[in-house]
Amino acid sequence: MSEGAVKKEERRKFQAIKGTRDILPPETALWNRVGFGEIRLPIFEETELFARSIGGDTDVVAKEMYSFVDKAVPDIERASGEAFAREVLFATGDAFADYVEKFEGFLERVKKAYRSGEIPHTEANRNGIEKLEKYRAVALERVQWGDLNTSPEAVADYTAAAAAFLWHMQLGYPMSLRPEATASVCRAYIEHNMQQLPQPVKLYCIGPMFRRERPQKGRYRQFYQIDAEVLGGTDAPAIDAEVIEMVMTFFDRLGLEGVQLDINCIGDKKCRPKYVELLRAELSKVKDKLGADSQRRIETNPLRVLDSKLESEQKLIEAMPHIADHLCEECAENYRGVKKELELRGVKYRENWRLVRGLDYYMRTTFEITAPGLGSQNAVCGGGRYDGLMELLGGPRTNATGFAIGEDRLILSLLETGHSPLATRHAPLLYIAWMGEKAYAAAIRAAKDLRNAGFSVELPPVEQKFGKALGQADKLGARFALILGDNEVSSGEWTLKTLADGKQEKLRESDLVEHLKKQL
Ligand code: HAM
Repeated sequence: MSEGAVKKEERRKFQAIKGTRDILPPETALWNRVGFGEIRLPIFEETELFARSIGGDTDVVAKEMYSFVDKAVPDIERASGEAFAREVLFATGDAFADYVEKFEGFLERVKKAYRSGEIPHTEANRNGIEKLEKYRAVALERVQWGDLNTSPEAVADYTAAAAAFLWHMQLGYPMSLRPEATASVCRAYIEHNMQQLPQPVKLYCIGPMFRRERPQKGRYRQFYQIDAEVLGGTDAPAIDAEVIEMVMTFFDRLGLEGVQLDINCIGDKKCRPKYVELLRAELSKVKDKLGADSQRRIETNPLRVLDSKLESEQKLIEAMPHIADHLCEECAENYRGVKKELELRGVKYRENWRLVRGLDYYMRTTFEITAPGLGSQNAVCGGGRYDGLMELLGGPRTNATGFAIGEDRLILSLLETGHSPLATRHAPLLYIAWMGEKAYAAAIRAAKDLRNAGFSVELPPVEQKFGKALGQADKLGARFALILGDNEVSSGEWTLKTLADGKQEKLRESDLVEHLKKQL
C-alpha cells in the first residue's frame, strides 16, 4: 500500500453504518435538570472505530469484542470461494473459454464493487486487486486471449491467483458490538459537526454493552452502562470535578453507601511516554519475579502492570516510581486543580497512583468509584479525560471528559446493601379494590380521573374479594386503597383507606382528586 493510501485511510472519517443512526437531542427528551441531552447510539460500529479509540493492545479490543464481517455484496459472496475456483481451474477443452469468460465477468463485478466502496478498501483487498491485475497482464502476454482453448495452462497462474484472492478477500467491513459508548459518542460528535453547537456539548446514553469476559458476579457479557460525556470547551479542572460530583450525588440520592472514589493523573503525550519508559526499565529489573501476564505487559503496555491484582507482585509494584513525580508542569498544575475543585465541592477522594484504567484514550484525570457488596468486580463507575481522542478519529482537537456507570453492578450493590427491589417510586399511589359490575364502571372512571391528575393507579383487571385486593395493595406498596362495592356506588359514598394505619374516610366521587392532592 502506498504512503498516500495509508494516510488517506487514516484520515477516513468514521460514520454510522448505513441503516444505523444516532438519535440526538432535541429529538430525545432532555436529561433535564443537569443539562445533558440523550444520545441513542447504534449497538454496532466498525471494529476499527473501537480499535483506534480503545487501543488494539487492550484486553477489550484484543480479546473481548463480538465481531463479525458485514457483507454488503451477497452475489459476490455466493459466487466466490472454492466451488467457483475449482470450476475454473479444472475445466478443460471447449468449455474452458466459457469458464474464463464467466470468471472475467465476475472479476469485473468485484473490481467495480471495490471501486464503489461496496467492498472495503482494506490493505488486503487493495493488495489483492493489484496482484490480480499483474497476473492478468502476465497471462495476457503469454497467450492470445481469444485462443484460450488451445493453451489453457497459460492462464492457470491468473485464475489460480484470482481464486486465491477471492477466497481471502474481505467482502465487508469488520463490525463489532459496542464494548463501550465513548468511541461512538465521539464518532457521532464528529459526524454531526457538533463542534458548531455551543460548547461544551453534554450527552448521556443508557444501554447494553458487550464484552466477551469470563462471567462472574458483577461481570457479564452483556451489561448496561449509564454513560455521560462532556465534549468541547475548555479543559478546566472544574469540568472533571463537576462530572465526578454529579455521579457521586447520583449515588448519594440512590442511597448507595460506602462508595469510594479513587483519582489519578496519568499525564499526557508529553510526559507519559518518558514515565512509561522509566517504568519499563524498572519492571525489567524484576522481570523474573513477575507473573507471565505482567512479563508480557512490560513489552506491550507497562502501565497495565500497575493494575495487577496478583498477590505475589504487590510488593514489587509498590516499589515502582509514581507517575505523579514525573508529570510535566501543565499536567501537575491540572491535577492540583482537579483536587482543589473536588475539595471545593466537598467530594471526598483517595489518590491512587496505580489507577491507570484499561482503555488507551485517557490522558490526565482518571477516576474509578467502587461500591460495597460486589466482591472482586467492585467498580461501579469509571471515567476520565480524553482530550486527544477526537483528533485520533479524524475530527477537530476537542477537550472531553466523561464516565460510565455499570448499571448491573449499581443495582447489585444496592440489593446487597439492603435496598429493597420494590423501590417505592414504582409502587402505585392508589389501588382500586372493586367488586360488582356497577362498581367496575365507577372504578374505571376513577382510574381515568386519577391518572389524568398525575397519580399512579393500579386497577385490577378482574374482580377480587376485598380481602385479597387489600392484601395485593399492601404487597405492591400502595399508599391508599379505594374501596368500591355496589353499596358504595349506589350511596355515592366511596371509601378511601390509608394502608399504613388502616384509617378509612368516606368521600364523594367528585371530591376524590382534590382530597388526594391535599394529602400529598
Ligand atoms: P469501563 O471502566 O470499561 O469504562 O466501564 C465502566 C463501568 O462499566 C465499569 O466500572 C463497570 O461498572 C461496568 N462494566 C464494565 N465491564 C463490565 C462487565 N463485563 N459486566 C458488568 N459491568 C461492567 C468505560 O467503558 C468508559 N467508556 C467510561 C468512560 C466514559 N470514560 C470516559 N467516558
